[in-house]
Parts: sequence; C-alpha cells; structure tokens
Amino acid sequence: MKTVKAFAPATVANVCCGFDILGFAVDSPGDEVILTQKNEPGVVVKKIVGDGGRLPLEANLNTASVAVQSFLSAIDSTVGIEIELFKNLPLGSGMGSSAASAVAALVGINYLFGNKLTREELIPHAMEAERIACGSAHADNVGPSLLGGFVLVRDYHPLDVVKIPVAANLYCTLVHPQIELKTEDARRVLRPSVALKDAITQSGNTAGLMVGLMSGDTNLISRSLKDVIAEPVRSVFIPGFEAVKSEAVKAGALGCGISGSGPTMFALSGSHEIALAVGEAMQRQFLKYNLKSEVHVSRINLDGAKIIDL
Ligand code: HSE
Repeated sequence: MKTVKAFAPATVANVCCGFDILGFAVDSPGDEVILTQKNEPGVVVKKIVGDGGRLPLEANLNTASVAVQSFLSAIDSTVGIEIELFKNLPLGSGMGSSAASAVAALVGINYLFGNKLTREELIPHAMEAERIACGSAHADNVGPSLLGGFVLVRDYHPLDVVKIPVAANLYCTLVHPQIELKTEDARRVLRPSVALKDAITQSGNTAGLMVGLMSGDTNLISRSLKDVIAEPVRSVFIPGFEAVKSEAVKAGALGCGISGSGPTMFALSGSHEIALAVGEAMQRQFLKYNLKSEVHVSRINLDGAKIIDL
C-alpha cells in the first residue's frame, strides 16, 4: 500500500493591485494531507481534522478530492485513493485555505505517480478545486502554493503562469481578525466593469510592483501596493480596515491590504523585526474595533508545497 504526506502553504492573492492575477506563498501556516492508495477504485475523503466538521466529505465537493479526481482523470487512472485532510488554515479567511488543501493533495498524488506532471501542469487541476470552492477557477492562490514565491497569472485563456524572479527580501505579516468571509460573497460585491481611469491606475501599480519586486526597489514596491478595484468595495466587510492599514504603515510596513478576498489583512516589510512590530500594531488596532485576531509572520516561501515525512 502506497502512502504519502504533503504540505501546502497559505497564500496571499491579489497583493493589492493584482486582482486575480498575482499572489505569493508564505512558509506557514498551511494544510497537510495524507493520501493512501486503496484496492477499490474511486477517491474517498476518509477524515478531515481541524475544520470543526464544516467541510464536505463528499468527494465531488471537497477541494482536495476534486483536485485528485481531476488529476486521475487527466492521466486516465482509475486507482483508488483515500484522503486524510489536516486543516490548519481557517475557512473563509482569505489565506488560500481551499487552495492549500487542493495543492497538498495534488502534490501528494503526483508523487505517488512518480511526479508524472510538472508543478505548472498541476495548476489547472487545482483551479478545478477553486471552482468547486467559490464558483471561480482563479489561479492566484493555487499558483503560488504550488510554485512558491510571487506568481503572476499573465493570462487565463490560455493559462500562462509566470514565477517572478524577486530580488527584494520581504517578510509578510498576516493578521486574521475573528470574522469569516466567503470568497463567493466577497466576489459578488465586485463591480462588473472598471472605469478607464481605474484601469490605468491599477495597471501602473501592477507594473510598478513587478519592477519593484524584480529590482529590489522597496520604495517602488511601497508606492505600488495600492488597489482601486477590489479594496474600495471589499474593505467595508473588515471593521477598522483603514485604521489597521494606517497603523501597519506607521509601524514600518511597505504596504498593507486585503489578503485574497479577506478578512485577513496582509502587510509586506523589509525585515523580520519590522514585520513583527507591524503585526502587533495591526492586532492592537483591531482590538479597538472589538476584534481579536491571529498574527502570522513569515518569510516569502520560495518553493511552494512539499512532500513531508510520515
Ligand atoms: N483573487 C481572488 C479574489 C482570491 O480576490 O476573489 C480569492 O482568495
């Protein structure tokens, strides 16, 4: 019987200006899965730990099993697989929780098949899981969780995913206030069209962020971490958003915004010490809005999901 255990990291999608096209991975937290080959065909979710009983065990509804099913059908395999999922990422947090489960499962199943597919080739299967989770097959969480580092989705039709060679040494602070926000709901409030002036501002910032990341120009990164498309309509879901963001910048962050679809807020900083101070400042500010929060400080994860010892 073949068994494998895999880990996939949390991710920050959008990174302010890159709505649906940009994301990066952190070292921790992340989800883990154990996959075991079984004798009968079919993919089964045997148990889920850490979700408070809220995630579906049905193989067609769970992001880990949907990703494995998609992989197996692509390689024409009817092998049976049992999945145990260990959720360390909170649901509805904006930290790429559904993506991490799918990516860990995919890296595990691919390993069992002798790494038949490349990490890039796994992305569409992970996107199928995102479609199940929130109705939209975006790649800005699954891309960085699979590849590590900062990842740009240059195009969806056809899919063109690019890992960005980053020169800047950055640290991420994630502050997760104790509220839950479904990606589906946070997508519903988005306006269907974008004003030309906003498209220009957003493109300028996205391009500026790319140049800043690649050249290590932290001042340019800082000037570019702005979002005029999603943040104005989504920040209303996060009590104290503007005040928390302003405290992050006062504490030395290069920039701060909504992680994915929220409610977690992220900040990027130039050192571990600053990233810790930023986390404390943001947490303190959330408390003024009667919100407790969890803080995670991490380097940027450069390698993405990995196989771990059982
Ligand atoms: N880009 C997606 C969104 C990420 O903002 O809706 C979801 O985590």
